[in-house]
Amino acid sequence: MIRALLAPILLMLATSPAAAATPPHALPLLPQPRSAVPLDGRFAVTADTIIVAEGEGARAAAERFAALLARTAGIRLRLADRPVSGAIVFRRAPGFSAEAYRLEVAPGGATVTASDLSGLLYGGVSLWQLLTPGESDGRLTAPAVRIDDAPRFAWRGLMLDSARHFQSPEFVMRLIDWMAVHKLNRLHWHLTDDQGWRLEIRRYPRLTEIGAWRVPAGALGAPPLPRIGGFYTQDQVRAIVAHARARGIEIVPEIEMPGHALSAIRAYPELGTGMPLDPGAESDWGVFPWLYNVEEPTFAFLENVLDEVLELFPGTFIHVGGDEAVKDQWRASPAVQARMRALGVADEAALQGWFVARIGRFLEARGRRLIGWDEILEGGVPQGAAIMSWRGIDGAVHAAQSGHDAVLSPAPILYFDNRQGGTSAEPPGRGRLVDLAEVYAFDPAPASLTPDQQRHILGLQGNLWTEHVRTEERAAHMLFPRAAAIAERGWSAAETREFAGFVDRLLPQLDRLDPLGLRPADSAFRVRADLRAEGGTVIATLSNQIASELRYTLDGSDPGAGSAIYSGPIRLQRSARLRAVALRGGRLLSGALDLAVDRLAALRRDDTQLKLCSENIALALEDDWPAQGDRAVFLTDVMNPCWIYEDAPLDGVSAIEIDVGQLPFNFQIGRDVERIRFREPATQAGEFEVRLGGCEGERMAVLPLAPAADHPGVTRLRAPLPPRTGRSDLCITYTARGVEPLWAVDMIQLVPAE
Ligand code: ACM
Repeated sequence: MIRALLAPILLMLATSPAAAATPPHALPLLPQPRSAVPLDGRFAVTADTIIVAEGEGARAAAERFAALLARTAGIRLRLADRPVSGAIVFRRAPGFSAEAYRLEVAPGGATVTASDLSGLLYGGVSLWQLLTPGESDGRLTAPAVRIDDAPRFAWRGLMLDSARHFQSPEFVMRLIDWMAVHKLNRLHWHLTDDQGWRLEIRRYPRLTEIGAWRVPAGALGAPPLPRIGGFYTQDQVRAIVAHARARGIEIVPEIEMPGHALSAIRAYPELGTGMPLDPGAESDWGVFPWLYNVEEPTFAFLENVLDEVLELFPGTFIHVGGDEAVKDQWRASPAVQARMRALGVADEAALQGWFVARIGRFLEARGRRLIGWDEILEGGVPQGAAIMSWRGIDGAVHAAQSGHDAVLSPAPILYFDNRQGGTSAEPPGRGRLVDLAEVYAFDPAPASLTPDQQRHILGLQGNLWTEHVRTEERAAHMLFPRAAAIAERGWSAAETREFAGFVDRLLPQLDRLDPLGLRPADSAFRVRADLRAEGGTVIATLSNQIASELRYTLDGSDPGAGSAIYSGPIRLQRSARLRAVALRGGRLLSGALDLAVDRLAALRRDDTQLKLCSENIALALEDDWPAQGDRAVFLTDVMNPCWIYEDAPLDGVSAIEIDVGQLPFNFQIGRDVERIRFREPATQAGEFEVRLGGCEGERMAVLPLAPAADHPGVTRLRAPLPPRTGRSDLCITYTARGVEPLWAVDMIQLVPAE
């Protein structure tokens, strides 16, 4: 259909009374704007609506808005260069601070005004949020309003670790799309680490020929897994950087040094200290000993690499890592020690300071700024360098005290490899539960910083490490919706923080992201059932993370708004199929529960329902088998594999079944491995043991591991239990001669006597 370019536009007017003072969160905007004044009426967008770009850079923002609306609402608006009535206008004008914008929506049109491209883009994002996902009849309308908006912090970031597991260029571009519609503006891209070098460097092809590939670790005797890996060509990186720039996002590349350098040293062993490389070490996790040496040819290598990095990434900041560089190899290397003496450097920490300062000067001479993990503060750091605080916020405090800028990305709260839900529906990750509410509650201006120190806080960032995040679907799940909480904490004024309002605004935002290919985690909404057996009765307690209405059925039928409302524990005398949903404001949330409930189910606990005896290094680890298809996930503390079945009902129970799996112990934890202790086994393969009351209690059952030893998947072990009455904790551990293999529990079933 051909339409006249300047056809007069008829607007559908739907007047609504102006509210005197609508709080900003009444608008479906995420992040919340600084100020929003509601006006009369609504603005309707139709296929005939024209977009007008006025001033330099405005066309790029207008095109982005049009493309976003086309992808998500299926309507492709045309652009014009001259004013028309009823149009959406993108206008570049002086007077706004960085990234700030004004959005004026009236029944007769909408105007975005800003002084920079980011501001124009963000005004477009806000208008898109007001218009979508659209009304129930499919119309796109926005309430009349005047919004004046600007970010609280300049750095609103996510970190993607592409080194531990590689994601496709298409995924990285999709992630950038998702970030852009949250007004997130920094993608910290972790491109090199011990496990992989992901960036093509023309001058050093072996970095990717050798360093981009590895065979994942498997338990001894398990079928080998296929080689995995990949890297980004320079052409792909240029396309990704351009994609990000067009959306107001600066990519901050990270090239790790002096530690986390194994992939480079595998490719070019002359970069290391001469310590032998353990075969297969690249498929371990943890803190590795291999550091770059400090010879001139190694600095030439690093500077040549950085020259190519600077060509590809035009942004201000270049991240050089600096974390977890254990100095054992530097201490043991005569060449490193000789260099230290020649330089007059006091110790290895100061040598790292010298190393980082030298790279900092290299970057500064090329107009860039170095940023590194908070360890770089320990050796003295160049004045213009910025710090990324990850060991809590102390790094930021020290940085600010010494006049450095800092970004807050503290573990564990802003480490998005941590689980966000407590059910077995969660993918693998670190074991600490960091839910959406906890991320949202994070305060980027902690009171422990003085106002002067707070001026050095550039902003905050959520980090997705991917040791245990093998697929892109899982990466998306771990990042969103927690990234939406980062967006709001980074953009909106502190005093507007309110979790319930955030959730209300998050729901339509997630709907908008569906056409952009995002499948976010539903962990915050998912209904969880805890079952308890009491005599012949089973008691089901339902819950979910966010405040919502829970409704359920017991006959297998679809639960919905008309189903029974959950008001307290459900007592069941016979078997039932329990299905439950969460609703909020009449809207069905995702995360339905569907569970066969009977006495056997009430006597069962999966690993997420057991308590870990300790949480030294708590991980939800994925089985190393099978290569294709679903694998079991085991929640364990690799420093102390030990589980508690709390308050186990023992009346009438005559046996116990434990589903166990074996994993490789592929953790580089230095001498800490000597602290992992097991009881002495009685048989060659060892045994699981069940103790009553606690881990020093009476041994009630022994389950030999021989039947599981040759099976790479999950094996069910079974043993009789002596008759006991009442309730008691059960402690489950295993005996072993060493850490390999690591055994883990997937499920425990108490079996009633017939
Ligand atoms: C880090 O988590 N090692 C920065």
